[in-house]
Amino acid sequence: MDIPGPEPRADGGVGAIAAAGGLHHYQLRLHAEYGPVVRFQLPGVETAVSVADPVLLEATAHLDERPERLFAFLDPLFEAGNLQVIPAEEHTPWRRLLLSVLAGRPSHERHFARFTGLATALADRWAEQAGRESVVLQKDLTALSLRMICAYALGGEAADPDGVVAAFEEVLTEHLGRLYQVPDGGSRQERAERAEAALGQLRTMVDQVVAAHRSDARTDRSDLIGALVGAGERPARIRDTVMVMMLAAHHTTGVAVSWTLHMLGRHPEAAARVADELDRVLGDRAAPDYADLRRLTYLEMVLKEAMRLFPPGPYGARETAEPLVLGDYEIPAGATIFYPFWAVHMNPDHWPEPEKFVPERFTPEETARRPRLAYIPFGFGPRSCEGAGLAMVEAELVLAVLLKRFRFRPVPGHEVIPIERFVLWAADDIRMTVSPRIPG
Ligand code: HEM
Repeated sequence: MDIPGPEPRADGGVGAIAAAGGLHHYQLRLHAEYGPVVRFQLPGVETAVSVADPVLLEATAHLDERPERLFAFLDPLFEAGNLQVIPAEEHTPWRRLLLSVLAGRPSHERHFARFTGLATALADRWAEQAGRESVVLQKDLTALSLRMICAYALGGEAADPDGVVAAFEEVLTEHLGRLYQVPDGGSRQERAERAEAALGQLRTMVDQVVAAHRSDARTDRSDLIGALVGAGERPARIRDTVMVMMLAAHHTTGVAVSWTLHMLGRHPEAAARVADELDRVLGDRAAPDYADLRRLTYLEMVLKEAMRLFPPGPYGARETAEPLVLGDYEIPAGATIFYPFWAVHMNPDHWPEPEKFVPERFTPEETARRPRLAYIPFGFGPRSCEGAGLAMVEAELVLAVLLKRFRFRPVPGHEVIPIERFVLWAADDIRMTVSPRIPG
């Protein structure tokens, strides 16, 4: 059967997406009109096939290639090949190595105290702002995640962590400029030169950490660079791995925490339940231990529900190496399969009243009732997020520290408008008022 979809247009699809108010709204409309498998035009891709049904998605879960053109904008960040699109034979061992560190408890435990210190420092700063001015969530929380991932990836051994953060911001401002305000300093040429210099600076810092590992030949399963050195990865790939982790980890985790606080600000009954749970589990401690996290079950449900409604990475994509049968349709080799994670999370067949914030959707019983791929904030298959476990630890820790200490309220008149960029961002950030809470 032919895959249904709108008539192709001369503009390559840009106009239809803009008219719908963005790709997500366009996806929702396409799937409502044409069903779970839709052919559509996507800028940079001639024909993409979008699949919003979690059962049909299973048939794509083995796909192990991404379409190169869609990720070409990241090419300048890499020396040894764009890690988003490297071939499977290179990607598989790299992924295995990453998972052996990132997904393992030893690395989470080893960095937990440092993470707690960084989260507490932000809470201290916000305490000073309380009662005087609102706080700006995304700006501060993405900066916090960047500090955390630097500490994690570089093992706290970078001579100048603030320098790493500043250099990385410079690189991103240039290469993903749309995420930020237009930088004020200098001409385009000057900015490009500054970014190039910052990229060089970052690579040198990673090399210094690598050299430190070589000289003491230390490897353990909690140390990412140690594991990469130990596996004999070439220096350029190690530098690229640190870059891609910083890129993948900081906006995503920062916006996940921001959207969660935003939702709690609008749902005081859920916020009160989280606060009760924190008082019960932490007593008068200001921050959880690593072992406390798994007892914060309601907090985790709240975070998951916020990432359902606002998935930090709203889309994914794969390419078919061979023809693929998907329900009634055959997808040819070389096609782009578009994963509309956000639309999957809003599929009314699996999420009744999908617009509503209902953390109870994530009780173990409710979760077991849904198809596996109904909830995919970290993607799925052999190119899914290697940082998922670490991200949950970081996000739950930051939320626990902040929600134990403060109550968050929306700022009247401040509109929060989701906007699709490299991550799912709020157009004018998320401003909230914080006030100290008295533990019950
Ligand atoms: C809440 C936080 C995060 C979210 C929602 C998130 C989400 C995602 C998504 C949707 C993808 C694409 C998956 C796909 O195509 O199927 C991805 C890829 C990736 N993420 Fe995350 N991520 C988060 C945090 C992190 C962290 C903390 C790290 C590292 C420490 C990380 C490392 C990566 C890497 C390396 C990839 C590329 C995967 C590959 O091509 O093999 N992410 N992430």
